[in-house]
Amino acid sequence: MAHKEINIKYEEYGSPDELQECDRELVAAASDATANSYSPYSKFQVGAAVRLGNGKIVSGANQENIAYPSGLCAERTAMFYANASFPGVPMEAIAIVARQDGKFCESPAAPCGACRQVMAEYQTLTGRNMKIILAGSRKILVFEKVDDLLPFIFDSLK
Ligand code: THU
Repeated sequence: MAHKEINIKYEEYGSPDELQECDRELVAAASDATANSYSPYSKFQVGAAVRLGNGKIVSGANQENIAYPSGLCAERTAMFYANASFPGVPMEAIAIVARQDGKFCESPAAPCGACRQVMAEYQTLTGRNMKIILAGSRKILVFEKVDDLLPFIFDSLK
């Protein structure tokens, strides 16, 4: 038996002004996308924006349903839209922003496990790391690849 450890590296910023311009733009797109959230049940409005290798930015917002499990998170809405519109084009980065009852959350919202798994698949598919930017209004966390949020990724049927 051996004791092992995983270290996760990430960056923390106090405001979008500290980010590089392309990431700041992506956070702005995710913030705008929160306006398109359909979330009458949770009143938690999430926006996600994906920057593609072809320079396009594709956004999504969470979509809920009275049959709760039929809804979908902002991240998967954005990623599925991206790959349905531009199949196989690498997703260089995804930014996530949330509002609670209309007010931007100060702390970053972390993607659920299912969204992390979908991120992992697109990262593997395109062979390019996907940067993840979790943007609260007072704290922004940046992870350079999906592995950092999902260690021991399930990515093949061995
Ligand atoms: N939600 C997202 O869109 N992304 C996340 O990362 C976490 C949760 C949505 C799902 C549901 O519409 C609402 O937020 C409350 O869970």
